[in-house]
Amino acid sequence: MMKRLALIGCGAIGSVIVDAIARGEIEAKLVALMDMHPDRCTSLAKKISEEVKICKDIECIFELKPHIVVEAASQEAVREYVPALVGRGIDVVVLSVGALLEKKLLNELIELSRASKARIYVPSGAIGGIDAVKAIGIVGVKKVVLRTTKNVKAFDPNTLKQLGIDPNKITHRTIVFQGPASVATKMFPANINVVATLALATGMEPYVEIYADPEADSNVHEIEVESNVSKIYIKMVNRPHPQNPRTSYIAALSVIKLLKQLCNNDALYVGV
Ligand SMILES: NC(=O)c1ccc[n+]([C@@H]2O[C@H](COP(=O)([O-])OP(=O)(O)OC[C@H]3O[C@@H](n4cnc5c(N)ncnc54)[C@H](O)[C@@H]3O)[C@@H](O)[C@H]2O)c1
Repeated sequence: MMKRLALIGCGAIGSVIVDAIARGEIEAKLVALMDMHPDRCTSLAKKISEEVKICKDIECIFELKPHIVVEAASQEAVREYVPALVGRGIDVVVLSVGALLEKKLLNELIELSRASKARIYVPSGAIGGIDAVKAIGIVGVKKVVLRTTKNVKAFDPNTLKQLGIDPNKITHRTIVFQGPASVATKMFPANINVVATLALATGMEPYVEIYADPEADSNVHEIEVESNVSKIYIKMVNRPHPQNPRTSYIAALSVIKLLKQLCNNDALYVGV
């Protein structure tokens, strides 16, 4: 039986997912699209040959009985919709992972998932090596550091101004934040979801440095994880998504890969 999918968030990542469903790469039936800008749903729905319902609220999504809902919208969307979905026994793929660093929300979701048996999936997104990081997490991680560099244009200018930084005056790679992950994800909700993925995979709050660089044409994540068994150094140099410079294209590809594993009848799973 084909899995029924719904998508909340029809922006850069959402459009790549819909393209993968349209060309049959993800073997699933797209039943619903939802976005605070309904016109974005309309243009994505046109890519699918069968009828796709454009939903204005979560009740509409419930009525269509999806097996999996992909959240590719915002941290607010995670808070607003994911508890209700998991409570109803619907599996959810969460992209706006920063929201899961809020202990109250995470604990609520874990309780709901235990009761309903729904799963919450966090794809590796814009970073690699999460398989190895999870493995060393078994013996305990001593240190996790994330250094992220993006073009100045990838940052909300108001956030930079609140930090006393005029984005127009940044002439070279400049540190704009250093501190714990829980503060970083609140201040830069659309920029460093990967730090939340690292925190969830290691069970430890990473230390974060964020740099704005007017010359950068890639989103760079440098990751250091230390334990007694291994030291891991990973550098990701990611092309930004053409529709959204904050988002790395690979983040959308990681969702496609996850959805293929959940929906297609594949026999072999490597590196999971
Ligand atoms: N986990 C990762 O590694 C990773 C990587 C990149 C992006 N992200 C996150 O994934 C999410 C989607 O990224 P994107 O590049 O597609 O963003 P985008 O801005 O291009 O698209 C997001 C869409 O969601 C809609 N939206 C936002 N809040 C909503 C709400 N409450 N209800 C309904 N619709 C809502 C917006 O209107 C927009 O169309 C973002 O939160 C982003 O920070 C995660």
